[in-house]
Amino acid sequence: MLKLENLSVAVNDRPILHDVNLHIKPGEVHVLFGPNGTGKSTLISAIMGFARYTVTGGKIYFKGQDITKSSVDERARLGIGVMIQRPPTLRGLTVREMVQICGKKQVDVDELADKINMVEFLERGVNEGFSGGEIKRSELLQLMAQQPDLVMLDEPESGVDIENIALVGKSANYILERGMRKNGQTVKKYRTDRKKSGLIITHTGHILQYIPADTAHVMYQGTLACSGNPQEMLSCIQKKGYEECVNCAL
Ligand SMILES: Nc1ncnc2c1ncn2[C@@H]1O[C@H](COP(=O)(O)OP(=O)(O)O)[C@@H](O)[C@H]1O
Ligand SMILES: [Mg+2]
Repeated sequence: MLKLENLSVAVNDRPILHDVNLHIKPGEVHVLFGPNGTGKSTLISAIMGFARYTVTGGKIYFKGQDITKSSVDERARLGIGVMIQRPPTLRGLTVREMVQICGKKQVDVDELADKINMVEFLERGVNEGFSGGEIKRSELLQLMAQQPDLVMLDEPESGVDIENIALVGKSANYILERGMRKNGQTVKKYRTDRKKSGLIITHTGHILQYIPADTAHVMYQGTLACSGNPQEMLSCIQKKGYEECVNCAL
């Protein structure tokens, strides 16, 4: 689904990411851990193709296609969706209009909004006066309408209370089309039936209680320093901190 080959990225001429290699296959959800300022959000922004994030080396492939130089809207149309940490307020554009714009086909905005407790926000300006949790829900509602094949979430639980984390997790699973394993369905079958992929940045790991992830990576000083089982890596980081966790894997 997504393949990064030796990706290096600079922001305003400052090198941030160095030789990042990552392969997310269809149906896989990967988690990205890492200390503040190490380049996690930069990675997502570069994959989405936002301005100011200049690829200085390497390639980004999506569904086998080289998208390193594609525009943001081309990438979105190909099936990449993102929830950024601090989306802007858009005065004069209602949530309903925004969701309709994001929608691939004719989506039932009211039905989707009902799933994520956003019905009463539909006629308000996007993010205008929204709380932390409301911003996340509004962003997720847009992703529900967009139906991307690769969903990237940047710290979906930050600024969200416990009740809303469950709702955020449920909605992320809806976007990833990940239901519960059916009775009698083998783990293998459950996994191979999945098609949509995810890349989720999390500091706390709380969201992992709701979204089953396949692999985790630690980003350290602008590169992916190690990879492994999400729960094991999380407990290693909690016990020893990022630096030791990265070093013990070397
Ligand atoms: N638009 C920008 N202009 C200047 N520096 C930036 C910009 N975006 C990110 N950076 C810098 O890049 C580094 C990595 O930031 P970021 O990717 O947000 O880290 P993380 O998400 O891991 O906390 C930081 O030092 C940050 O200040
Ligand atoms: Mg960040």
